[in-house]
Amino acid sequence: MSKPVLKTEKLTKSYMLGKRSIPALSNLNLQVNAGEFVAIMGPSGSGKTTLLNILGCIDKPTSGQVLLDGVDVAALPESELYKIRRNKIGFVFQTFNLLPYLNARENVELPMEGKIKSKSERRRKASELLRMVGLSGREEHRPQKLSAGEQQRVAIARALANDPAIILADEPTGNLDARNKREIVGLLADLNVNQGTTIVMVTHDSHVAAHTERLLFLNDGKITKEKQGLHLAKKKAECS
Ligand SMILES: Nc1ncnc2c1ncn2[C@@H]1O[C@H](COP(=O)(O)OP(=O)(O)OP(=O)(O)O)[C@@H](O)[C@H]1O
Ligand SMILES: [Mg+2]
Repeated sequence: MSKPVLKTEKLTKSYMLGKRSIPALSNLNLQVNAGEFVAIMGPSGSGKTTLLNILGCIDKPTSGQVLLDGVDVAALPESELYKIRRNKIGFVFQTFNLLPYLNARENVELPMEGKIKSKSERRRKASELLRMVGLSGREEHRPQKLSAGEQQRVAIARALANDPAIILADEPTGNLDARNKREIVGLLADLNVNQGTTIVMVTHDSHVAAHTERLLFLNDGKITKEKQGLHLAKKKAECS
């Protein structure tokens, strides 16, 4: 039986804006099993980024449980959360969050510090990851010298820096044209099939979402619908 790597129970998140409480997630129950490739869709403001930030230990719930490999992360101190983020999770942010004063390779190397001791090994690995996302020859460019799509690829390479077991990607194809979209989804699907990486990807694009194995629809902070995607059929075909 598949093992749940991510599980939420009655997950609720409200943001405080002055004295007003803004509800973002409401009693949300979710389970993602090891090796799954899941898409999250939903209208703007439905809580997708909030959910991903909480699953990625970047933000804390207002109430409810978030279990990562069976551990309730909502109860952990920041020092432990930092280790979990560094060792287990690769995060692709909706707004990239690249450091502007570092070039592409240095941005990818950064999360490896503290994990890979040798500078030359960090460099080699970052260049290899940039090659994998189609950015060979752009290693020395700073983010402002790269197109939005290229910055997104750097962000994906950075998410892969520490060989995470889980990738959480917020609109990783949002700024790409059709061909680049296919390439990035193909890259994520390859990681999922070949390395067993668990992937949760937020997308507005139904074509992109169709390439995952399970689609979850979020509305007003709740999962309201679930559908099977094409990737599941592909995986089953490869296993048979
Ligand atoms: N830091 C914040 N402070 C106050 N309210 C917030 C904050 N971040 C998000 N919200 C609110 O929480 C709700 C969910 O926001 P969230 O960013 O998770 O939506 P989303 O589904 O990712 O939207 P989009 O598709 O536009 O990225 C929205 O009503 C939003 O206004
Ligand atoms: Mg968002």
